[in-house]
Amino acid sequence: MQNDNRHIFVRGGKRLSGEVYIEGSKNSTLVCMAAAALADKDTTVTLNNVPDISDVGVMADLLRALGKTVTYEDETLKISGELKYAELPRELCGSIRGSTYFLGVMMAGLNHAYLGLPGGDRIGDRPIDIHLDNLEMMGMKYKLEGGVVEGTAPNGLKGMDLFLRFPSVGATCNIILAASRAKGKTTISNCAKEPEIVDLANLLTKMGVKITGAGSDKITIYGSAPVKQDVVHDVISDRIETGVFLTAVAITGGDAVIKNCIPTHNNPLIQTLTRAGVFIEYNDNEIHVVSTGVISALKVTTMPYPGVATDLQPLLTVLAIKADGESSITDLVFPERFSYIYELSKMGAKVEHNGNTVKIKGVKKLDGSKLVGSDIRAATALICAGLIADGTTEVEGMHHIERGYKNFVEKLKGLGAEIMVK
Ligand code: UD1
Repeated sequence: MQNDNRHIFVRGGKRLSGEVYIEGSKNSTLVCMAAAALADKDTTVTLNNVPDISDVGVMADLLRALGKTVTYEDETLKISGELKYAELPRELCGSIRGSTYFLGVMMAGLNHAYLGLPGGDRIGDRPIDIHLDNLEMMGMKYKLEGGVVEGTAPNGLKGMDLFLRFPSVGATCNIILAASRAKGKTTISNCAKEPEIVDLANLLTKMGVKITGAGSDKITIYGSAPVKQDVVHDVISDRIETGVFLTAVAITGGDAVIKNCIPTHNNPLIQTLTRAGVFIEYNDNEIHVVSTGVISALKVTTMPYPGVATDLQPLLTVLAIKADGESSITDLVFPERFSYIYELSKMGAKVEHNGNTVKIKGVKKLDGSKLVGSDIRAATALICAGLIADGTTEVEGMHHIERGYKNFVEKLKGLGAEIMVK
């Protein structure tokens, strides 16, 4: 983890304008890195468009702990070598959510797994019961004690017909990884449909696994042995980073082009912003966003893809602060992701949180304040609130920002924000 004493200082009042370039998807990269551990020991998986962020570094260390060789240069990761060890250091697992994927990977490749419970953003309860219940259906016996999971399946995992009680992204990925080396066919009904699932399926297909239905709510995976074939895969663009810049420009009444993105992955957000009075047009890989700064009240519900992403919920609350009248934002995915509300109220925002919903009364001005960002998206939202506040806002939480974005502060500066880290 980087030095925690670095804070972000933003002076409000600048409209964001110009161009910004979107990196490869953090969440796709993390699961693709886990999938690469399942390749044949004599082959190399090359992942392009990999963002230079600290979560990728942690995932690379986890791969090395499994016996893999990992190199990273110019946004390209190369992963090779043998999956040898079925044990991961507890500390390292506890620092990111993506570490859970190694449960499926180790069970698939070694029939045994020992790892610490995952960490990641503190955005409410983040159990892994859906992962465990479904891997158990596939033949894994497990113990969960003292923050450590140990799974075994001496005769290997078996393909099964599975149903998820909630379309969890992480559980869907974990089961796909496990199923790709299980005996026979696995179907996962009510699975997640996020673009990151499709990206994972595309990579595994190149690695010789037959998968159908990715991107729909029922996916089928035919378990198979690793093939001796090098694989090259370009990770998709980050739809959350795209959504962050789209919304940040709208919040500041700016005018910018978001480049190297996949606009259709943000359709519901584009509709939400358009209804709020923001002008948006796009082609295959760019979005032009123009906002007068006059925003109509929002009514948003975040939900699994293709709904508005829960990761953007805190930022939409900041947009709603600028809106005329009362807005309401409900989070159906992480109903407790509201830690940042208290921080916004320090700035003079009129926000009221009840259950999974926040109601926001638009205000004419925010006061620059000293704030604590407690996770990636909360810190993002507070920085963006600072962009429209009077005076200077100081946000603690630079290490969260670095977990999820490459050059976030520099990119905002490039769009004209008065922002610095010290
Ligand atoms: C992933 C993303 C995260 C995003 C989220 C929802 C990564 C590394 N993180 O997180 O950025 O916000 O998807 O799009 O890709 N749940 C259970 N039991 C489980 C699993 C999940 O109850 O076993 C619940 C969670 O507490 C949450 C909901 O299901 O309320 C959604 O979680 P999930 O889709 O699994 O999110 P993650 O994979 O953790």
